[in-house]
Amino acid sequence: MLVQAYNIMAHAFLLFLLFSCIISTNIHACKQTEHSSLLSFASTLSSPPLNWTSLDCCRWKSITCDQDGWVTRLLLPSKGLKGGISPSSLRNLTHLTHLNLSHNSLYGSLETQFFLSLNRLEILDLSYNLLSGELPISLPSSSIRTIDLSSNCFYGAIPSSFFQQASNLTSFNVSNNSFTGYVPSSICHQHSSPFVRLLDFSSNVFSGNLAPGLGKCSKLQVFRAGHNNLSGLFPEDIYNATKLEEIALPLNSLHGAISDRIANLTNLAILDLYFNQLNGELPLNLEKLSKLKFVTFDFNNLEGALPPSLMNCTNLVELRFGNNNLEGDISMLDFSRLSQLTKFELRMNNFTGTVPVSLYSCRSLKAIGLSGNHLEGQIQPEILSLKSLSFLSLGYNRFTNLTGAMKILRRCKSLHALSLAGSFVGEGMPSDDDMVDFDGFQNLRVLNLADSDLNGHIPLWLSKLKNIEMLLLGLNQITGPIPSWLETLPRLFYINLSNNRISGEFPKQLCRLPRLLYEPNIASQADQYEFELPMYGISSVTGIQIFPTQKLYLFPATIVLSENNIVGDIPTEIGQLQLLQELNLGSNNFSGVIPDQISNLKNLEVLNLSTNLLCGIIPSSLASLSFLKEFNVSYNNLEGPIPTGPQLQSFDASAFEGNKKLCGAPLPNKCRPNKDMDADNKNNKDEGNEHHQLPWFYIFVALGFIVGFWGVCVSLVINKTWRYAYFRFIDNLQDRLHVMIIVPLKRMKRKLRG
Ligand SMILES: *[C@@H]1O[C@H](CO)[C@@H](O)[C@H](O)[C@H]1NC(C)=O
Ligand SMILES: *[C@@H]1O[C@H](CO)[C@@H](O)[C@H](O)[C@H]1NC(C)=O
Ligand SMILES: *[C@@H]1O[C@H](CO)[C@@H](O)[C@H](O)[C@H]1NC(C)=O
Ligand SMILES: *[C@@H]1O[C@H](CO)[C@@H](O)[C@H](O)[C@H]1NC(C)=O
Ligand SMILES: *[C@@H]1O[C@H](CO)[C@@H](O)[C@H](O)[C@H]1NC(C)=O
Ligand SMILES: *[C@@H]1O[C@H](CO)[C@@H](O)[C@H](O)[C@H]1NC(C)=O
Ligand SMILES: *[C@@H]1O[C@H](CO)[C@@H](O)[C@H](O)[C@H]1NC(C)=O
Ligand SMILES: *[C@@H]1O[C@H](CO)[C@@H](O)[C@H](O)[C@H]1NC(C)=O
Ligand SMILES: *[C@@H]1O[C@H](CO)[C@@H](O)[C@H](O)[C@H]1NC(C)=O
Ligand SMILES: *[C@@H]1O[C@H](CO)[C@@H](O)[C@H](O)[C@H]1NC(C)=O
Ligand SMILES: *[C@@H]1O[C@H](CO)[C@@H](O)[C@H](O)[C@H]1NC(C)=O
Ligand SMILES: *[C@@H]1O[C@H](CO)[C@@H](O)[C@H](O)[C@H]1NC(C)=O
Repeated sequence: MLVQAYNIMAHAFLLFLLFSCIISTNIHACKQTEHSSLLSFASTLSSPPLNWTSLDCCRWKSITCDQDGWVTRLLLPSKGLKGGISPSSLRNLTHLTHLNLSHNSLYGSLETQFFLSLNRLEILDLSYNLLSGELPISLPSSSIRTIDLSSNCFYGAIPSSFFQQASNLTSFNVSNNSFTGYVPSSICHQHSSPFVRLLDFSSNVFSGNLAPGLGKCSKLQVFRAGHNNLSGLFPEDIYNATKLEEIALPLNSLHGAISDRIANLTNLAILDLYFNQLNGELPLNLEKLSKLKFVTFDFNNLEGALPPSLMNCTNLVELRFGNNNLEGDISMLDFSRLSQLTKFELRMNNFTGTVPVSLYSCRSLKAIGLSGNHLEGQIQPEILSLKSLSFLSLGYNRFTNLTGAMKILRRCKSLHALSLAGSFVGEGMPSDDDMVDFDGFQNLRVLNLADSDLNGHIPLWLSKLKNIEMLLLGLNQITGPIPSWLETLPRLFYINLSNNRISGEFPKQLCRLPRLLYEPNIASQADQYEFELPMYGISSVTGIQIFPTQKLYLFPATIVLSENNIVGDIPTEIGQLQLLQELNLGSNNFSGVIPDQISNLKNLEVLNLSTNLLCGIIPSSLASLSFLKEFNVSYNNLEGPIPTGPQLQSFDASAFEGNKKLCGAPLPNKCRPNKDMDADNKNNKDEGNEHHQLPWFYIFVALGFIVGFWGVCVSLVINKTWRYAYFRFIDNLQDRLHVMIIVPLKRMKRKLRG
């Protein structure tokens, strides 16, 4: 009896064990289908291994299951996954709520079926992969909240039905792909996604206008669609989305005025609209936008004055209105409440008046750009209260008292970039007598005093700017020699002294500029300095190539001495400047031969020796300068055959014309036995001199390094839609820079003729 009872109990116990065992497997172990789906997903990937080896997939890293053993989360961001994503395997994980595969190297496309069975998905992050193809016609379900497909290679239009079921969507980011078609601005319509808070369509190829609809997005906080091809009016109903904190639509072609209804967007902190065609006047009632921090309107067609109400937006950090048609007396504005302001940019407008002293009470200021306006008066000593001021661009205005300005500004300890070009016209270069006991500009890297008809010598105090990297003194009336102490400036790599009345010889010491010597160790320590506001350069090299940049190290190593009265030989020591990229000695009185050593300058991209008195042959070694993109030896007394090779023959004949005894391609006259040559050449010559046009080269130099250099700004643009931006940029330039390019060009033409 007892034994029997014991047996029964033992059996019951065993049964219980078995049963509980079954139950417990049900709790902990993942479903077989989930297991195989995951393995199938993993099998399409290459390194590194996911270590999915144990039986129970719910215990695998990166996996979360629910109580029933369904996989709910698959989180594998930044795991170095490579390979094709397999929609068919993921599709069977029907209980998935969170899928994060961002920052891997997955490729493939989201087939139409991808979402079909994932109807519990809430968070989908596939950003920073290599996925491509078009989007499925619809999002899975109303459960979806966050979608991040940004930084992939998706293309095609976003299907109109895409958001139809996604009624709980709050965040949608498809930036940095190649999407085309319209921006789906009706996203918040009744049955779509009324709760959306964040929309990012930027850096794609969306085009057309922004159709009405965004106004219905009553929860929308961030709206970005910059770097696209959008046109049409700035969307009027956006002002109904009163929760907006950020509107970023830069680098498009939107036009129209900003309505005063913008005052209803009281949460707005970022308004970024640079590079569009917005016009009209700015609204007057901005004082309610008390949260405004970043306001960027550079490169538009805005008119009228800066509204005084802007000065009541006390949280402003950046105010940028460069390259518009704005006007008005800025001395009437009271900046004293803008204590957070760090960047203030009004370059290339039509502002008048004096620099308001209240601006100097903005103690956070790091950058001021006022060049290209009609400002007048003197620089006030109060500017010294801006202890962080690093970038100051006041060029192309009508300021006076350059010496006074320099005496004050030399005490700005943090100043890194100073441009006063074209502002103090006809004054004297501040002399050593003016700058006694000079000990200033300790951190100055860029000094631009070009284009002001300044007279006097190059003063010795400049030799104390031990951090100077770029020195621009072109287009003045400077006399005297090129100082030999330039070689003592350890960081100098960019010198432009063109269009002056500089005399004397090319100092041999200049051939020892430390930054331009081949020094493997120094050269590799590229200076990563970035300006507070962008500058732009126009490369004289590959046609019109404007690069707006804040990076100092993108500017080429340059020596430009053209249009002066420099005499003597080109020193053979020039061959030491191995890092030099641009050498322009054109329109001087250099004599002697072209030194063979120039062919040591292996990085040279521009070589201009035109309009001098050089004689002899073109050294055959020059044919080995493989980076050369611009070359001009016209109007000298060179003779003999043009060295053959792929390089020199690729230039236009005009690069060689005006040398009576030069022959061979690309010149039309063939090289013949010596005697015939002279007679033959006489016929060609006289016409040659007649169309002594302004070579393109000078135009580029004028645009880039003398004038435009400081005039214009845009934010740095590096992405695939840069091309579009770039063309618009040039369109704008033609209008905006007219005064600043054409006028100095005419002056140069005069000099060329005279
Ligand atoms: C996979 O497992 C191996 C050995 O168990 C271990 O060395 C490796 O770090 C694991 N890799 C990952 C990505 O967890
Ligand atoms: C997904 O499920 C379907 C049917 O439910 C099945 O035919 C298919 O083999 C499964 N795929 C994977 C990768 O497990
Ligand atoms: C995906 O994972 C990354 C890395 O942990 C995280 O930064 C990101 O926010 C996640 N995505 C979403 C949508 O939660
Ligand atoms: C939508 O979100 C609300 C609030 O978070 C939630 O209660 C509701 O279940 C969600 N709808 C769906 C279909 O997931
Ligand atoms: C969208 O994703 C990109 C990365 O691809 C990120 O830089 C950007 O901040 C995201 N947009 C928003 C509004 O968070
Ligand atoms: C854009 O996407 C590419 C490719 O995924 C990535 O390398 C790049 O960093 C992304 N750019 C930005 C600004 O996020
Ligand atoms: C940009 O938009 C214009 C007008 O909407 C269109 O004609 C042009 O083809 C678009 N460019 C690209 C590259 O999509
Ligand atoms: C914007 O909201 C106003 C009411 O605040 C309404 O009258 C108007 O129709 C709305 N505009 C659009 C385009 O939705
Ligand atoms: C702001 O919104 C209110 C109601 O939403 C509306 O009555 C008013 O006209 C709007 N103001 C402006 C300037 O659009
Ligand atoms: C700016 O604020 C001051 C003080 O609150 C006020 O007196 C002034 O009228 C405001 N100015 C503008 C233009 O709103
Ligand atoms: C700038 O203002 C002057 C008058 O001060 C005017 O003649 C000129 O047309 C204006 N230029 C632009 C581009 O608005
Ligand atoms: C030039 O400026 C200096 C320094 O501010 C000042 O001392 C001097 O009087 C000014 N000269 C003239 C002519 O205004």
